[in-house]
Amino acid sequence: SSLKAHFNKQFLVGSAINAQQAKKTNKDTHAIIIAQFNTITPENEMKWERIHPKPDKYEFSLSDEYVNYGLTNNMFTIGHTLVWHSQTPDWVFEDAQGKPISRLALLARMKDHIHTIVSRYKGKIKGWDVVNEALNEDGSLRDSKWRQIIGDDFIEKAFTYAHEADPNAELYYNDYNLYKPDKSAGAARLIKSLQDKGIPVHAVGLQGHYSLTHPDLSELDEALTLFSTLGIQSMITELDVSVLPFPSEAEQGADISQDLDLQKALNPFPNGLPQKQQDALSARYRALFSLFLKQQNHLSRVTFWGVNDANSWRNNWPMLDRTDYPLLFDRTNRAKAAYDAVIALPVD
Ligand code: G3I
Repeated sequence: SSLKAHFNKQFLVGSAINAQQAKKTNKDTHAIIIAQFNTITPENEMKWERIHPKPDKYEFSLSDEYVNYGLTNNMFTIGHTLVWHSQTPDWVFEDAQGKPISRLALLARMKDHIHTIVSRYKGKIKGWDVVNEALNEDGSLRDSKWRQIIGDDFIEKAFTYAHEADPNAELYYNDYNLYKPDKSAGAARLIKSLQDKGIPVHAVGLQGHYSLTHPDLSELDEALTLFSTLGIQSMITELDVSVLPFPSEAEQGADISQDLDLQKALNPFPNGLPQKQQDALSARYRALFSLFLKQQNHLSRVTFWGVNDANSWRNNWPMLDRTDYPLLFDRTNRAKAAYDAVIALPVD
């Protein structure tokens, strides 16, 4: 069996992949992607700084490779991400003298970027993370350069441009911590305001960077129910579960990589993950997927953020060079007990 076969009637199951993994030379990882998943997301290759590094320069070689990989392997291929405050070069917001550009000039740049990329992959990329992480934790709009220069309507403009370029593509709003009541309420308000203006938005993406203790699953359940009342689907778009204690300083966004006490925890399990933590990870994944099954009528996709533990970003966050174990496949691409726990869940 496989994840995609097991949950076939419920939701798509996918993984973020990066340029390296999409190469068939990486045979083991490639084999897992093909066997287990029916949807893929590009981990980094379509972010603004990669795909559009200079005003007059688009870099399509890696994104073309990614899209061809999806087409060849019959995957529901996702685009990630068109408008984000992060990984976007400074030039986007500035003129040649380094001064902030006008609202109209930034809208023109945004439109060119979205039209160029979305049209290039029209009909091939089936769903786009159009706007990523536009909300603060209290549910208000983040004070990004997009918002400072354009205004609150930068979000509806992004969705409108994406829809113009490919009217058949699904368009998503994607963010983290959307289980938190204030933030999910903010996302619901945002989506409702787009709907009221007739702007197409097809799903909300809940990133899903979790731990053994976060989120509280009843809060996640309530958030999924809230989004379903808007008449749209939810998607878990970037799932991983850290087994390591979460330093609260990092939660506040502080740079803690120099903190000596925390450095001690870089590799707390040098002989591999102990049974106790393996059991906790299995139980956590089982509980999460039980909730996803409960919400299956409102949940159309579950995507892991990476294929195996070795290539997870969690090894570099919240601290650099930390050894974490957040995914269903281990560093040698073997299925973990957490995989067995997930696939043992009864589906109907
Ligand atoms: O590839 C270069 C390498 O050549 C260079 O030597 C090295 C030194 O800095 O950097 C490498 O690039 C890094 C890249 O990951 C690949 O490992 C970038 O610095 C690093 O910033 C980048 O981090 C990515 C991060 O987004 C920022 O774009 C992570 O891989 C990626 O998993 C993460 O994904 C995000 C989602 O897009 C949005 N939601 C949150 C999620 C996790 O942060």
